[in-house]
Amino acid sequence: MDETTHSGHAWRTADGRLVRVYDDTASLSEAAATLVAGVLREAAAARGLATLCLAGGSTPRALHERLAAVHRDDVPWARTTVVFGDERCVPPEHEASNYGMARDTLLSRVPVPAERVHRIRGELAPADAADDYDRTLRRALGGAPPDARAAAALDAPLLDVTILGVGADGHTASLFPGDPALAERERWAVAVTAPAYVAEPRARVTLTLPLLRASRLVLVLVAGATKRDAVQAALGDEATVPAGLVRAVGRTLWMVDEDAAGIASDVERRT
Ligand code: 6PG
Repeated sequence: MDETTHSGHAWRTADGRLVRVYDDTASLSEAAATLVAGVLREAAAARGLATLCLAGGSTPRALHERLAAVHRDDVPWARTTVVFGDERCVPPEHEASNYGMARDTLLSRVPVPAERVHRIRGELAPADAADDYDRTLRRALGGAPPDARAAAALDAPLLDVTILGVGADGHTASLFPGDPALAERERWAVAVTAPAYVAEPRARVTLTLPLLRASRLVLVLVAGATKRDAVQAALGDEATVPAGLVRAVGRTLWMVDEDAAGIASDVERRT
């Protein structure tokens, strides 16, 4: 399906990732909401169920609010399973909880059944929360192959749309530069400790690259001038940051605002 209309330019990186540039966060979030809604509708129509993987941080807030305000009635929320790309190891009522942000901005405002929302239990010890979520994902994603190796090679991915943000250091989910978790090829969820430059809580649980890859569509949402270097590093010919390592088995679409895309347009001229 067409990704929707967009402002500004669009280009494809040498390795096939599509990049669309938007005037600002509002137009980026509006386009992302239209795209997510369409993909969830198509997935539910084609396979009876849709699976949405949500990101944390602040960038997705406007997307969530748009989905709740405009797409409450044109998305099959009752047939949508929701999982999370990462979580801070805090209880759900903690202000830093990614689940808490999603609950307040989206999940409490659309008719998704509670039993279809699978949060990472951040209140547990990190290793226990990661083990628990690895099991939860294999159960929730239904028919998951016995091990993640098969997921990475899956033609039919396990996630319909996976939303990701990018940090100024190029991390995505809670996959930080140089972290051993980047080499994980079997587990779908692992516990990590964010680098010292990251604000507390640094104890995290994150999905791993094999599962992020097992997506029909990965949407990477980036806004703000502080992300310019990360966008360039991720979209360059040799991805040098975690966000640049994410390649969906389906489509990988970067939706960036003008502030974050400044350097990225150079990438367009270089590629
Ligand atoms: C988190 C997110 C993280 C986020 C980036 C960007 O738990 O913080 O999963 O990967 O997407 O740090 O965060 P902002 O959207 O707040 O810039």
